[in-house]
Amino acid sequence: MDFSGQLNYYNAMIESMLRVQIEQSEAPSILYDSMVYSLFAGGKRLRPSLCLGACEMLGGNATDALKAACALEMIHTYSLIHDDLPAMDNDDMRRGKPSCHKAFGEGNAILAGDGLLSLAMLLLAQTGNAKVFQIVARGALNMVSGQSMDLNGKPDAETLFKIHEKKTGALILASVLAGAYTAGASPRQIQSLTEFAEHYGLLFQITDDILDAAGDARLLGKTVGKDARDDKVTFVSLYGIDIAASEARRAADAALEALNSLELDVSFFSSLVEQTLTRQK
Ligand code: IPE
Ligand code: IPE
Ligand code: MG
Ligand code: MG
Ligand code: MG
Repeated sequence: MDFSGQLNYYNAMIESMLRVQIEQSEAPSILYDSMVYSLFAGGKRLRPSLCLGACEMLGGNATDALKAACALEMIHTYSLIHDDLPAMDNDDMRRGKPSCHKAFGEGNAILAGDGLLSLAMLLLAQTGNAKVFQIVARGALNMVSGQSMDLNGKPDAETLFKIHEKKTGALILASVLAGAYTAGASPRQIQSLTEFAEHYGLLFQITDDILDAAGDARLLGKTVGKDARDDKVTFVSLYGIDIAASEARRAADAALEALNSLELDVSFFSSLVEQTLTRQK
């Protein structure tokens, strides 16, 4: 299967499992509608795809990692809903639609995020894999730590790396490792995949910063220029677009090198790295 075939195959699995799980949430209508609204608004499903891809690359069965993968997408979606709130980034657009708080009001958006996080815990419990549960919970907590650092204070260059590593890198790392542990990865494989995910997470957030400055809002599905509007410290504000782009290339090369040390068929992940470098959404 080629790269886009594999992505489509993962996406189909993810969409149907998300649908089944949200149907079983027993949420009252506004909570249910707001969770569905954000969860099915058209995200790229990157984190669950990383989870399924890691599991399969190591010889596991993607179905075995599907609940953890969907929990990760729920946690990610909750982080986006809260990130857009007026008290945080005050963003009106997400995934090509009005943000959750624009559609349902602030209180309901806070609860939609809370609901998705809680539903994710239910899915993780169903995996019966305590290591996977721990990896994902740690990733969620580190993401919140990164969001807290992002919200409070103006970082210097070194701190900015730390923030990117936590607010975005942590869930990406958790996604790769949840898939890897599901497949019974060896300590050496975990080490190589950790290195890969750390570089890939940095690559992903640098390209997010570049797209905020120079992307096309219609493709991106979110407002462009808001980091500059809010005087945020990003890779672009610190170094300019050209140097930010070369940092992205450097992170991509480091991610590819970590993959090569695995001595497996890493084509899904290496294609993902190249796609992320030139992504427009
Ligand atoms: C956006 O993540 C927030 C960041 C961590 C940079 P994505 O770009 O993966 O957003 P979706 O899931 O496709 O909407
Ligand atoms: C947010 O980073 C990362 C999260 C944990 C949600 P950003 O604030 O840059 O994400 P976008 O640009 O709003 O998607
Ligand atoms: Mg933010
Ligand atoms: Mg934001
Ligand atoms: Mg951004």
